[in-house]
Amino acid sequence: MEEQGGNGCKRQVVVESPVRPLRSLVRSCFIFLLFLSTVILIILFAIPASSFQPDWWDNLSLYTYYHRWTIPIHPHGPSPTTVPAPPPTTVPLTTVPAPPPTTVPPTTVPAPPSTTVPPTTVPAPPSTTIRPPPTNQYHFGHPRNFHFIMDEPDKCKTQTPFLVLMVPVAPGNLAARDAIRRTWGTETLVQGKKVQTLFMLGLPGGSGAQELQEKVNQESRAHHDLLQSDFMDTYHNLTIKTMVILEWLVSRCPEASYAMKIDSDVFLNVQNLVSMLVNPDTPKQNYMTGLVWWHSPVLRNPNEKFFLPYEEIAESEYPPYPLGFGYVMSMDLPKKILGVSPQIKPIYIEDAYLGMCLKRLGISPTDPPSQSLFAVNPLNSYERCKLSTVVAVMTTRVSQLLKYWQEYTRPGPPC
Ligand SMILES: *[C@@H]1O[C@H](CO)[C@@H](O)[C@H](O)[C@H]1NC(C)=O
Ligand SMILES: *[C@@H]1O[C@H](CO)[C@@H](O)[C@H](O)[C@H]1NC(C)=O
Repeated sequence: MEEQGGNGCKRQVVVESPVRPLRSLVRSCFIFLLFLSTVILIILFAIPASSFQPDWWDNLSLYTYYHRWTIPIHPHGPSPTTVPAPPPTTVPLTTVPAPPPTTVPPTTVPAPPSTTVPPTTVPAPPSTTIRPPPTNQYHFGHPRNFHFIMDEPDKCKTQTPFLVLMVPVAPGNLAARDAIRRTWGTETLVQGKKVQTLFMLGLPGGSGAQELQEKVNQESRAHHDLLQSDFMDTYHNLTIKTMVILEWLVSRCPEASYAMKIDSDVFLNVQNLVSMLVNPDTPKQNYMTGLVWWHSPVLRNPNEKFFLPYEEIAESEYPPYPLGFGYVMSMDLPKKILGVSPQIKPIYIEDAYLGMCLKRLGISPTDPPSQSLFAVNPLNSYERCKLSTVVAVMTTRVSQLLKYWQEYTRPGPPC
């Protein structure tokens, strides 16, 4: 028995020894491949899709996937460059003290006399109070004293639209406006319902501001679809832009049934949107839908794009809100939101801010009838059949929007 065991051992050693160099070769190969795939993964994560890369990059870039699924999308304007680190040790874990409406400074100003907007038609919850000036870079008040310097006051008068599509867009982004005018902006009568598309601009900044404004003025005379208010059109002023959009709706379009805020780089299937809205199951009041983020964490890492320090918002997650790339609301909401917004400390993340206003109103956003109706994932793979079933889909660039539209409108059965 012992001898046999010994023999067995010996035989094993004899058999194993020639395998050893092979094993270490396999091991180094494995380590090398591991290293290689890590490098590739890092590259895919780090480089965003942009117009400088070939189209196929959209399909590969994990950056696009990651950033689309982890954070709200605000495709316009630069990301904040410098942000101070939060002192996490001195965290006052109290809820954000919303100033009660009674403590509004007594300097109530009358509705600002605007040259283009007569205040008579404004059933104004806004314009009666003035907010304290912004205190820091995250806290951009909506002082409610902006004026429309470009208006289309009669757009809803001659024929009340069923649906108003409001597109916030930077003054310089003529390409996006033209793309919309050539694609879903052409859908003005859908299933017998009037649909009105309008663009909301702020003031251009920088050196070429004056020439750009002149171009915008010409564009407005040519198309009559531009609205412009006199705040600086910057990334950090997007919440102001949204509030100004709501003000315009309240004062100019109160009779419409629904409004949608939609970013300028979104593919919109207006047919499906109208079908969704005319469905008898769709509420006519207190209704807001889109791709609802039910548990969106407040990002605390100063390197993150949508970072907010504890001093600005103490809660660890935002109230539910539909992502800003496209949300639909019943027309009673703009006035209600503007009514409570003076009590809500403004943050520059406009969609999350709307969520905070909705929470104060005791209104919850509603999931769309199907989750796939509003989509943010990179959708190069979106072909005709899918485009015929969605409501809104993010695109990565103007050319992609045009391509989707071409696909979608091509004659023949979509599926
Ligand atoms: C927002 O707009 C206001 C009014 O035009 C301007 O004073 C302010 O600098 C803008 N804020 C940012 C962050 O651009
Ligand atoms: C991306 O992938 C989809 C299939 O998933 C394909 O149809 C499409 O052509 C690809 N786009 C490019 C630019 O290669």
